[in-house]
Amino acid sequence: MLMMGILMANAQDIKLPAPDMTQKSMSVVDALATRHSVREYSNQELTNQEISNLCWAACGVSRDDAHRTAPTAMNRKEIRLYVFTSANVYEYIATENLLKQVATGDQRKLIAAGQAFAQTAPVSLLMVIDFDLFGGNNERSVMMGCVDAGNVSENINLYCQAVGMATVPRATHDTNGLKQLLNLSDNQMPIMNNPVGFPK
Ligand SMILES: Cc1cc2nc3c(=O)[nH]c(=O)nc-3n(C[C@H](O)[C@H](O)[C@H](O)COP(=O)(O)O)c2cc1C
Repeated sequence: MLMMGILMANAQDIKLPAPDMTQKSMSVVDALATRHSVREYSNQELTNQEISNLCWAACGVSRDDAHRTAPTAMNRKEIRLYVFTSANVYEYIATENLLKQVATGDQRKLIAAGQAFAQTAPVSLLMVIDFDLFGGNNERSVMMGCVDAGNVSENINLYCQAVGMATVPRATHDTNGLKQLLNLSDNQMPIMNNPVGFPK
């Protein structure tokens, strides 16, 4: 019975395909030179392969299990990445390349929070600073957490530009609604989001 419960609880998790290390992309220099915010998206959905590649670029496992594509202060890896789709909300578990379902249904309105364009992106990535992972929440920890979230967001910005996806970094979202939905503690702070899709 307990085993059945565990299986059912995990039924909607998505084991992602491995990130594609041979995908075509423009050079870092070209991505830096042409990156720009995009607030209009086509209705093309992302495949699981594209979501895997995107999450990996954001903060996936890089040279070994202990390191991520985005640096964090003291390598605390305190930025949690949540993936909002039209179907469900997931947390990206980098070490397992897994989307762990944390809420049901289309919750993108909590990301949009009044900026309607954001709700039209097929996927939104939310960065949450977890001060429990950082080991404190004093003023300096908050500063470091914000910088680290910015690193993740810029990885997303440059990756999207490099592979022909469209995104914009945003600090607008419904913080209280997200905290409630994701069952976050006072030590976990939603800080930035990136709606992601393809250009219209
Ligand atoms: C920390 C941060 C917060 C931002 N918040 C929002 C936002 O809430 N909504 C939005 O539409 N754009 C937001 N932006 C995007 C900026 O408006 C945009 O990056 C800026 O105008 C420069 O344009 P560019 O990205 O095309 O170079 C944000 C950017 C940053 C870096």
